[in-house]
Amino acid sequence: MSFDEVRSAVAKLESDVASGPIVPAVTAHEIRRYLAARYDFTKPLALDEVGADVDRMLRTWQVQVTHPRYFGLFNPSVTLASIIGDTLVAMYNPQLATWRTSPAANEIERHTLAWLGGKFGFPASASASFTSGGAEANLSAVIVALTRAFPEYGDDGLRRLAATPTIYLTGEAHHSFNKIAHMTGLGRRALRLVGTDRDLKLDLDDLARQVAEDRRGGYAPFMVVGTVGTTAAGVIDPVPELGRFCRSEGLWLHVDAAWGGAAIVSPRLRGHLAGIEAADSITCDAHKWFSVPMGAGMFFCRHAEAVGEAFRVATSYMPGKTDGAGRDPYTTSVQWSRRFIGLKLFLALAEHGETGYVEMIEHQARMGDVLRAALRGAGWRVVNTTPLPVVCFTREGLVPAEFLAALYERQIAWMSEVRLGEGAPVVRACITSFRTTQSDIEWVVREMGRLR
Ligand SMILES: Cc1ncc(COP(=O)(O)O)c(C=O)c1O
Repeated sequence: MSFDEVRSAVAKLESDVASGPIVPAVTAHEIRRYLAARYDFTKPLALDEVGADVDRMLRTWQVQVTHPRYFGLFNPSVTLASIIGDTLVAMYNPQLATWRTSPAANEIERHTLAWLGGKFGFPASASASFTSGGAEANLSAVIVALTRAFPEYGDDGLRRLAATPTIYLTGEAHHSFNKIAHMTGLGRRALRLVGTDRDLKLDLDDLARQVAEDRRGGYAPFMVVGTVGTTAAGVIDPVPELGRFCRSEGLWLHVDAAWGGAAIVSPRLRGHLAGIEAADSITCDAHKWFSVPMGAGMFFCRHAEAVGEAFRVATSYMPGKTDGAGRDPYTTSVQWSRRFIGLKLFLALAEHGETGYVEMIEHQARMGDVLRAALRGAGWRVVNTTPLPVVCFTREGLVPAEFLAALYERQIAWMSEVRLGEGAPVVRACITSFRTTQSDIEWVVREMGRLR
């Protein structure tokens, strides 16, 4: 197939998805019965037929996250270049664990990460790697921060530490940190929930109070997590102040910008990310606002030596180091075998250029403003404050679960339910597709009005 054929196949799929249903109506039982009846794997089947069948299943039995009226959970529409990137990766199947095995792929990733690291204001000496997603990038941050703060952690584990390490974050931070606290052996109680202001931003006074209290109580505070674009409400924590606080207290500042980080390329939005350059580490997902297929996260860390120490390993069975190539990725990251995750971002950046990305990102931010205005105009109450395109809203007497069931049933849009702080459930709508237009939004808000 030539690139032109791929382009028309993808364009046809996009238009079929855009004109079809967004939300499936199917039960687990129906799908299991269907699969059991057709696929017992006892004899070979024609690939054309199986491919067509899987295509049908995906077309009808999933929420269509690339639909322009999918206002969902940071799952983007994807660019053609990124689809081609993933296809090339599957075809060549390069192994990125060592530089020697895949020089081209490793250097393409390095080049792409250096570009974005520079946008964040990180020095060229910083370490960066692609990850499966934001959860792995956040895990990497905790492991590296622990290693730097407690040199004995790597060899002797947490049980040898004189004091219990603690991490500070708000209740709006991503819940991957709960799993990470468990996985690293810190335990979930090591997470200190810091209060928030009325906009759900981290409260610096409460942070200072809790850190001081923990120090007096014999704990060992070592890390603060600030979020740029919280999952529920798109809130941006006060990163410059967090940077100053962490520096004065000797704490590691991790900025989880899994979704919001892409705004760094936008002249209109990047001011909201001020202070990120002072972070010790950053999470930013390409598979969110950079509009490439899953899974593509990124982990940036200014302390390359701490990354090397955290993931250090020596074996005789891996191909040896190559002079001038730097450390092999399997010794600087959580993963061992590595997929060529970065190609989809590299190709998309090369095809669209930075200007193309600025357009895509600012378009979505504008559509967020359009959605907020349209909702207010139709009598809805917007309950979150953010410059990013995620809008949480409600109205008197609304039962979000019932409202969403009706929204799905009429295939108007996909939105979700969320609880902000201790508040009652509200509806959450995020512009995640660069294809969402003003008329899509106006149509959705008009149709929502008919559900009353
Ligand atoms: C702020 C934030 N951090 C981390 C994650 C986890 O990212 P992933 O699902 O790519 O592992 C998410 C997911 O939505 C997120 O919103």
